[in-house]
Amino acid sequence: MPTNRRVTLAARPDGFPKESDFAFEEVDIPGPGTGEVLVHLSHASIDPYQRGRMSEARSYAKPMEIGDVITSQSIGEVVESNDARFAPGDRVVGQLGWQEYAVARGGSLRKVPAALEPPTLALHAVGATGMTAYFGLFDVGKPRPGETVVVSSAAGAVGQIAGQLAKLAGCRTVGIAGGPEKARDLRELYGYDAVIDYEDGAVSDALREERVDVYFDNVGGEISQAVHRRLNVGARIVICGQISQYNEVRPQPAFHPGLLIVHRARMEGFLINDFSHRFDETATRLARWVATGELRWKEDVTEGLENAPRAFIGMLNGGNRGKALVKIR
Ligand SMILES: NC(=O)c1ccc[n+]([C@@H]2O[C@H](COP(=O)([O-])OP(=O)(O)OC[C@H]3O[C@@H](n4cnc5c(N)ncnc54)[C@H](OP(=O)(O)O)[C@@H]3O)[C@@H](O)[C@H]2O)c1
Repeated sequence: MPTNRRVTLAARPDGFPKESDFAFEEVDIPGPGTGEVLVHLSHASIDPYQRGRMSEARSYAKPMEIGDVITSQSIGEVVESNDARFAPGDRVVGQLGWQEYAVARGGSLRKVPAALEPPTLALHAVGATGMTAYFGLFDVGKPRPGETVVVSSAAGAVGQIAGQLAKLAGCRTVGIAGGPEKARDLRELYGYDAVIDYEDGAVSDALREERVDVYFDNVGGEISQAVHRRLNVGARIVICGQISQYNEVRPQPAFHPGLLIVHRARMEGFLINDFSHRFDETATRLARWVATGELRWKEDVTEGLENAPRAFIGMLNGGNRGKALVKIR
């Protein structure tokens, strides 16, 4: 009899997560109830926000409880459906977790178009991270042609798309990432005009000649402080993420509000979930750019569900080169 293999939260991480904070279990495959669908998953997403859900600190979503399956976007095929909108064989994406089989309400799933190749694009460039880049850049950052857009964690899942979208909008792009391999991807794959490897020296020195109109901030901390020193008048700072602070017991504020006065600048955070009413049209737009080659992407796939915790810890350490995913089967 096949079983459901899954990864659950064994303990709330104290600071940086450890593999012992996770448990690997085999349980019976659940059956779908009224209006529900059973999905056999092939890939799951590895994301920084999962760290937040492991903590009890107040946030925009309720925390995972000990014993819960690790929350994630995942894709797979429908095997059984009690919702007329889905049939066995349909490929779907949803918040289905780090597990091999998941039951979900039909209304919480989105179909992955058959033409999307590879289908894992629905977990990044044409899915949540691509849309995060899209809404953060265009709706919050509002770039204008000729402006300079700086992106931190620029080789990551969100960053690789944000930089290319800024380029499509006619901007000069500056990407910041850690290490020579990521720096090469920024230059050769994602077409950044200027590249800063922060492992190579001071970011503020490397930015000396830049005047930043839009800062797409994925990291916070010292890197962001260096960018804040190079703002142009009227700059927009898009707070997408603050990954450098996620494992800190006492996160350090990176920003001096007086800078907003000096540069008549605006700083705004956003959440991808607030744009859900525009997901379908935006996925179509992103898929078109991917199909024409205007939007390039890289995924970093770890084999085996049991290795998901290691991949997650690796991603928090900067080990992923592209969108971090786990291949379940
Ligand atoms: N607002 C939203 O709705 C939303 C949605 C999705 C994601 N996000 C945020 O977007 C950011 C990027 O997420 P992603 O999924 O694209 O992850 P990612 O960039 O693919 O992976 C995380 C990367 O963060 C960098 N990093 C880790 N610790 C760092 C530190 N101390 N200082 C500087 N960089 C560090 C590493 O890249 P380097 O090797 O280059 O340092 C690592 O590879 C995260 O902050 C995430 O929380 C926000």
